[in-house]
Amino acid sequence: MESPSAHGREILLETDRLVLRPWRVSEAAVQREMWTERDPRVPPHRRIDAAGRPTVEEIEGWIRSAPRSDSLGLPAVERKGAGDVVGYCGLIANRQGPDDEPELAFELLRRFWGQGYATEAAQAVLGRARTSGYRRLWATVRDWNAASRGVLAKLGFVETGRIEPDEVHGDSLYLMKRL
Ligand SMILES: CC(C)(COP(=O)(O)OP(=O)(O)OC[C@H]1O[C@@H](n2cnc3c(N)ncnc32)[C@H](O)[C@@H]1OP(=O)(O)O)[C@@H](O)C(=O)NCCC(=O)NCCS
Repeated sequence: MESPSAHGREILLETDRLVLRPWRVSEAAVQREMWTERDPRVPPHRRIDAAGRPTVEEIEGWIRSAPRSDSLGLPAVERKGAGDVVGYCGLIANRQGPDDEPELAFELLRRFWGQGYATEAAQAVLGRARTSGYRRLWATVRDWNAASRGVLAKLGFVETGRIEPDEVHGDSLYLMKRL
């Protein structure tokens, strides 16, 4: 725990409008809503399947068993004023590259898009990554994902030229930012 809020709750990062903090089991429905809202071009393993899975109960189990670690992970993004959770933003292990060059990842419920929340939350994550000693961060994004590419450009990520072709779900572009 880094800095406790006034209510003694764990806060990992804070911006003008947002706090980033661990998910609560009671917020499993928020995560599931994000699953339901995903673009049809997102690969099936990240979308609700025909049987309705993952269910809220399954996601509750994931939150309950999430390891408490020193790494940031993908914390909930909560609006300070309203106190509601709008999505997540954080760092994940780099699937293709070095361990000390993690990937930035973010996702918000659609009703909160276009208000600068992803950029604001990600800027805080970049600041933390910098002070944690990371030298470079990566991001992968589908070519059709204009909103995410807009956020990554605003944050200073640049395209590396590496592309993973995927005719079905859209090519994945690899971006990088030096900290
Ligand atoms: C990507 C995402 C998190 C952006 O959240 P957000 O809070 O709306 O982002 P911001 O408001 O901070 O910035 C979005 C930027 O993209 C731009 N943008 C949004 N939609 C766009 C579009 N269709 N075409 C071009 N630019 C677009 C916005 O104009 C904005 O830039 P601006 O401030 O210069 O105008 C949100 O769209 C999302 O959750 N998408 C689904 C999950 C996802 O794609 N995650 C990333 C996977 S790589």
